[in-house]
Amino acid sequence: MISITAFTNEKEVYSVTGEEQIGTIRLMDQEEVENVINEAKEAQPYWYSIDLYKRAEFLHEWADQLLENQEKIAATISKEVGKGITSANKEVVRTVDLIRYIAEEGCRMHGELMKGDSFKGGSTSKIAMIDQEPLGVILAISPFNYPVNLAASKIAPALISGNAVVFKPASQGTLSGLLMIEALLETGIPPEIVQTVTGKGSEIGDFLVTHPKIDMITFTGSSATGQAISLKSKMIPLVLELGGKDPAIVLKDADLDLAAKQIVSGAFSYSGQRCTAIKRVFVHDEVADDLVKVIKENIDQLSIGLPEEDATITPLIDTKAANFVEELIDDAIRKGATPIVGNKREGNLLHPTLLDNVTSDMRIAWEEPFGPVLPILRLNSEEEMIEYTNDSEYGLQASIFTKDVQKAILLGSKLNVGSVQLNAKTERGPDHFPFIGTKKSGLGAQGVRRSIESMTRDKVFVLNL
Ligand code: G3P
Repeated sequence: MISITAFTNEKEVYSVTGEEQIGTIRLMDQEEVENVINEAKEAQPYWYSIDLYKRAEFLHEWADQLLENQEKIAATISKEVGKGITSANKEVVRTVDLIRYIAEEGCRMHGELMKGDSFKGGSTSKIAMIDQEPLGVILAISPFNYPVNLAASKIAPALISGNAVVFKPASQGTLSGLLMIEALLETGIPPEIVQTVTGKGSEIGDFLVTHPKIDMITFTGSSATGQAISLKSKMIPLVLELGGKDPAIVLKDADLDLAAKQIVSGAFSYSGQRCTAIKRVFVHDEVADDLVKVIKENIDQLSIGLPEEDATITPLIDTKAANFVEELIDDAIRKGATPIVGNKREGNLLHPTLLDNVTSDMRIAWEEPFGPVLPILRLNSEEEMIEYTNDSEYGLQASIFTKDVQKAILLGSKLNVGSVQLNAKTERGPDHFPFIGTKKSGLGAQGVRRSIESMTRDKVFVLNL
């Protein structure tokens, strides 16, 4: 059992199955949060004064430490957020690779030089040297579903570019996040630079996001919380990665076996608890029967069970989440959707559910379940598929399945989403690609270079020769 501190104001953390107490976390109050923010703010200029290659060395050392502690961290992720142990291990390794890439990319950020005479009336005697300065203290708020990877994807770019970090992990996911920070502190990095804040959102959430010494917020989580942060934060840059309702668009000429395989993997890995999961299928009427058949065959292959059994479909993060998914399934069936497979619940374990003949009046056509349910909407034209994609309040990603690449690009250009995947599932990785959400799916951009850019600002020195 991981016990971080012995403060009286603590909360017990249980495994996702609720059977085992796996640790305790400290519930910090506003005064404690105030102190850590002040420490971070004071220490940041020193951190920025350290040579860039040395900051990169700390990150490489952090990656080494994570690998050394991989087994322990993966086991904690698996228990705490209910992820199969293979995926939990992959998360740690993916994070190691990401941190190393960030360290290297940070060392390649060399600023820019602009000549004055490229503007009409300008002169060769004016030259601008444009450097990238850190913003100051970055508030990094991570979600439960990738408690290590999505935390590091915010902390590492902040550090390489010379910022201090205040890290607030999701409540369920805190223990994994704290182990990751322990590994970082093992490198000998000044501890004031990376501050972890744990506690109740209701007690410290607003205090954090409105604090005048926080210079930028990077948040991954629900659209509702993201919107609340954007309303409350005061004139500081924000990067928000929020919800999604990513469609898989399957055209008449698609390779249906490939599409089904990708769709099932995209929809059901980690029980659909990913912002980038495929959350609805728009299929041309003519091929719908065939597609539904192969999707069902692929779903039948999914393993269902406990994280320690390394199952793909595991209990959802909590009862509220499971109730919500069930509510969406019930609503669809009541309104005439056909359950093809699944629709079975054991505690918070929901069997992978495929719903056919879903129509636009059903909530599942529009709402994000964050669970293992996939609605099929049979549509007649590409125009309709574009309309259904763009009518969503979300705009994260979309997949298009067709053998006609030109058609896919034309169609994709009409979709109001951050990324379009051709003949593959929606997903964030590889992690250095830009990652963007439109509408309620997000604000700003992530991906290694984009993340670093979001945490720095241009500083212009004009040389007048
Ligand atoms: O849900 C968070 C998002 O970053 C998912 O990433 O790699 O599962 O597509 P990924």
